[in-house]
Amino acid sequence: MITFKKGKKDRLLRPDEEKKTFGAGLNFAASEAYRLLRTNLLFALPISSLHSGETCRVVGVTSSMSGEGKSTTALNLGYVLAESGKKVLVVEADMRLPTISGWLKLERRVGLSSLLAGLCTEGETIQPSGIQERLWIMNAGPIPPNPTELLGSERMKTTLRNLAGACDFIILDLPPVNEVSDALVASRLIHGMIMVVRQGYATRSSVGEAMREMENVGVKVLGFVMTHSERQGTKYKSYYKGKYAYAKEGKDKAEPAV
Ligand SMILES: Nc1ncnc2c1ncn2[C@@H]1O[C@H](COP(=O)(O)OP(=O)(O)O)[C@@H](O)[C@H]1O
Ligand SMILES: [Mg+2]
Repeated sequence: MITFKKGKKDRLLRPDEEKKTFGAGLNFAASEAYRLLRTNLLFALPISSLHSGETCRVVGVTSSMSGEGKSTTALNLGYVLAESGKKVLVVEADMRLPTISGWLKLERRVGLSSLLAGLCTEGETIQPSGIQERLWIMNAGPIPPNPTELLGSERMKTTLRNLAGACDFIILDLPPVNEVSDALVASRLIHGMIMVVRQGYATRSSVGEAMREMENVGVKVLGFVMTHSERQGTKYKSYYKGKYAYAKEGKDKAEPAV
C-alpha cells in the first residue's frame, strides 16, 4: 500500500514565487472556468463508467502540439479536484519537457523515469504539491533516453494500478500527440483523455490529425479545453491584469469546453 506524505495546507511557495497561472494565484474567471471543467469531467467520467471495483479515475491531458496549455490544465484540474475533497495525483508524464515540478519548486532527483527504470519506489517519487493539501505531484525525474518505451512498459501499468488504490484521481500530463507517440502509448492506461486546443495556434489540420491518431488506438476523448481563448463578453471581470493574467477585461482566456 502506497502512503503519500502529508501535504501542507498553507502554500510552501513564497509570495514572490507564486504564479498567476495556477492554484490560488488564478484570477476569479480562470478559477471558475477550471471548476466548470471539473464538473464536466465528473459528468463525463462517472464512477459507474469504470470497471467494477475501480474507484480511481485516470485521466490523460494532451494536445496536438506543444505549448498549448496541457501542463497548466493538468495542474489546475488537479487543484480544483483536490479543492472539492478528492485525493489527486498529477503525474508529470511529459518526461521530455517537464514543467510542473519547476513551477512548484519540487525536487526532481528521482521521479517517474527513475521509477519506471526500477531505480526507486513509488513513495519516493511523490511529493506534496505545496499548494493544496490533497494534491500530490509525481515529477518526471531525470530526462530518460527512451520515454516512449518507459511509458508503454508493463511497469507503468503496475505503477498506475498501485497508485489507483491510494487516490481518487490520477491526471497524466502527457506530451503532444502529433510530436511523439508517448500519449498514444499511454492511452491504453487511462479511462479518458482531455484534449487541449490553443486558440489561434493549433490548426484545424493539427487537431484533426491528433484526433485521427487517437481514434486509431481507441482513446476515449472526454472533451476539449480551449486555451488562450479570445471569447468576448465574459460575465466575470478580471481581478488581475499582468503578465500571467488569463482573463483580461472582456476576454475569458481559460475556457474549458469538456
Ligand atoms: N487557459 C490559458 N489561457 C492563457 N494562457 C495559458 C492557458 N493555459 C496555459 N497558458 C500559458 O500557455 C503557455 C504554455 O502552457 P503549458 O501548460 O506549459 O503548455 P504545454 O504543457 O502544452 O506545453 C504557458 O505560458 C501558460 O502559462
Ligand atoms: Mg507541458
